[in-house]
Amino acid sequence: MKVLVTGGTGYIGSHNCIDLLNCGHDVVVADNLSNSKIDVIDRVKEITGKSVSFYKIDIMDKGGLENIFRQHDVDAVIHFAGLKAVGESVTVPLRYYHNNITGSIILFKLMQKYHVKKMIFSSSATVYSTSDKVPYTEDTNLGATNPYGRTKLMIEEILRDYYASDKSNSIAILRYFNPVGAHPSGLIGEDPNGIPNNLLPYVSMVAAGKLPELSVYGNDYNTPDGTGIRDYIHVTDLSDGHIKALDKISEDPGLYIYNLGTGKGYSVLEVVRAFESASNRKINYKIVDRRPGDSAISYADPTKAKTELNWEAKRSLEKMCEDAWRWQQNNSK
Ligand code: NAD
Ligand code: UFG
Repeated sequence: MKVLVTGGTGYIGSHNCIDLLNCGHDVVVADNLSNSKIDVIDRVKEITGKSVSFYKIDIMDKGGLENIFRQHDVDAVIHFAGLKAVGESVTVPLRYYHNNITGSIILFKLMQKYHVKKMIFSSSATVYSTSDKVPYTEDTNLGATNPYGRTKLMIEEILRDYYASDKSNSIAILRYFNPVGAHPSGLIGEDPNGIPNNLLPYVSMVAAGKLPELSVYGNDYNTPDGTGIRDYIHVTDLSDGHIKALDKISEDPGLYIYNLGTGKGYSVLEVVRAFESASNRKINYKIVDRRPGDSAISYADPTKAKTELNWEAKRSLEKMCEDAWRWQQNNSK
């Protein structure tokens, strides 16, 4: 299949390009490099021995994007492109709504025009209402609490309406839990701009001595050690979920929603200890106030993806930390 990967030089997209190429698919990447680097394309080639066609374009540039559909007979789109920083989305909401929603609509309209029916969309566990009980199933009530999360919810709604209007489409909405880790080669990983917001990249930089200490956001939650619990999933397992979802929407057209998580939650302090063990470094931390908007516990019920996609996450927290640490060391040269 020829697969257009939007956001393909980003963290998750780059891992997925590797898997798509390894499965024998042709890959076309569209990315504006707003949160990634062009070197990724060479690294994907180094890992797979295969090339992707790369276009540095913004998906809001309709002409540029249409050019790709004219030049390539695209069979399926995996739509990763989007802005993803929760805190930033509160500060510059219009940028988030414009980039994520307008960009998606332009993409979907071109898919419609060029009769591209198969699509996978990157959604997030952030769409679940945090007042509901864990684990979150796909039927848990929805309710995002910040502009970023609302862009994901709105795009999900747009896809539901689009599918209802034309059931020859075949769409998988994948709700990711907390993607972490890196490719085992150490060549591809998460490369956030500036000081990271997310736990694993922050811990990794403390271990590397680039940041002095981790602030643990609260130890008074109703959890065994008082710190927040999340469902961390290795980015390679997450990517594999997309390959399985692509098979599903190709074989059995429909509109599907799947959680991609491990079903197991770890606390902040458990992650710190796992990273200390993987890196053999001490992670200094201090307990500070809770971060506004954080929930105590979030983890997936991944049963639906296991039953319908024959997919489950295989890699342990230890492996996630080992691979993140290898990437951190390679990347800090
Ligand atoms: P990322 O920032 O590493 O990758 C996104 C890529 O999209 C970047 O390379 C960026 O340059 C590109 N991009 C952004 N806007 C664009 C535009 N208008 N036109 C072209 N390219 C554009 O992020 P990621 O972690 O790889 O996330 C991929 C997707 O998964 C995003 O949609 C994100 O919201 C979603 N997601 C991520 C997480 C997470 O924790 N990483 C969790 C849930 C969902
Ligand atoms: N945490 C700290 N210190 C830090 C960073 C995080 O204690 O410096 C804690 C948080 O309070 C939370 C846990 O570590 O308990 C995980 O926090 P992250 O910021 O890594 O992840 P979140 O669960 O808050 O959110 C992430 C993405 C969202 C996405 C969500 C679900 O940032 O975009 O996972 O996929 F929606």
